[in-house]
Amino acid sequence: MRTFTGSAVVTGAGSGIGRSIAHALAGRGLGVVVADVELAAAQAVSDEITAAGGRAIANQVDVRDLAAMEAMADRAESEFGPTSVLVNNAGVTLRPFRASWDTSYEDFRWMFDINWWGVVNGHMAFVPRMLAGSGDRQIVNTASTAAIHPFAGHSSYSASKAAVDAFTIAVRAELEVATEGFGASVLFPGPIKTRITSSARLRPAAEADASTSVKPWSDYVDPTRSQLVETADVNGDLPHRANNPGEVIDADAVGGIVLDGIDRNQPYILTHPPHEDRITVRRDELLAAGPR
Ligand SMILES: NC(=O)c1ccc[n+]([C@@H]2O[C@H](COP(=O)([O-])OP(=O)(O)OC[C@H]3O[C@@H](n4cnc5c(N)ncnc54)[C@H](O)[C@@H]3O)[C@@H](O)[C@H]2O)c1
Repeated sequence: MRTFTGSAVVTGAGSGIGRSIAHALAGRGLGVVVADVELAAAQAVSDEITAAGGRAIANQVDVRDLAAMEAMADRAESEFGPTSVLVNNAGVTLRPFRASWDTSYEDFRWMFDINWWGVVNGHMAFVPRMLAGSGDRQIVNTASTAAIHPFAGHSSYSASKAAVDAFTIAVRAELEVATEGFGASVLFPGPIKTRITSSARLRPAAEADASTSVKPWSDYVDPTRSQLVETADVNGDLPHRANNPGEVIDADAVGGIVLDGIDRNQPYILTHPPHEDRITVRRDELLAAGPR
């Protein structure tokens, strides 16, 4: 087990996956900055952690705002000490799924501003300070299995998450060369029951309205052919362990999985068994595609 001290910062920690990761890191004795654009949600999670005997503060931040991210880095350090774990997790999605040609310029901008530039801002605000520190340190950036096998009807999201994947693996290679004890992991969640499907609440009203009146991807899909359309909303109790790549699991399960991945400094952290068939297809197509 690695030894992390001081502060941990988790963006998008007011809900779902980030909330679960924040709890897990607090359970390891770190002071956790519960960061979210929705302050009430962040405060509720911070209160849960302190009620359970941990140390946490809520920090309202929009990950698109570099100056606010830098102010949060100052606050994390003054409250709990140097940051040893950074989890760039805040993210949004589009519903309904839509064809790339029905995806508006505003859709692409909004998606990349949060899912991609939010990660860059976290990196710029925290990593120079973390480099100046010592001991075990870790960055975790949340991507999606959509980065490994992009989804039809979800091109903008898939592209934003592929950027996070590539960036994190490049950063990891840099850290391996330039530092000791400082790793980077990319988190590939499979389907997790969270509030992600209601991301449109965070958009300006006009953009959100335009976004929901778009022609849904499902209108193009031939129902006689098997195609991923959308994960339906799930009610009731959910398992903590996924037995297959498509099984929706409870968000509370993710924190422990991520903590284990951090302890092992895994390059990839998966919540579900991988889609072996899709990975194999891509691998085989790549291996067969070289010049002859
Ligand atoms: N739930 C899934 O099935 C799934 C699958 C793959 C990847 N992911 C990724 O996991 C991450 C966490 O999502 P989740 O499923 O827990 O969703 P969620 O909606 O429950 O939590 C995301 C949190 O991010 C916050 N947020 C959104 N925009 C923000 C901004 N600009 N600045 C700061 N905070 C912001 C939201 O307020 C919310 O509390 C996302 O990056 C998402 O893309 C989720």
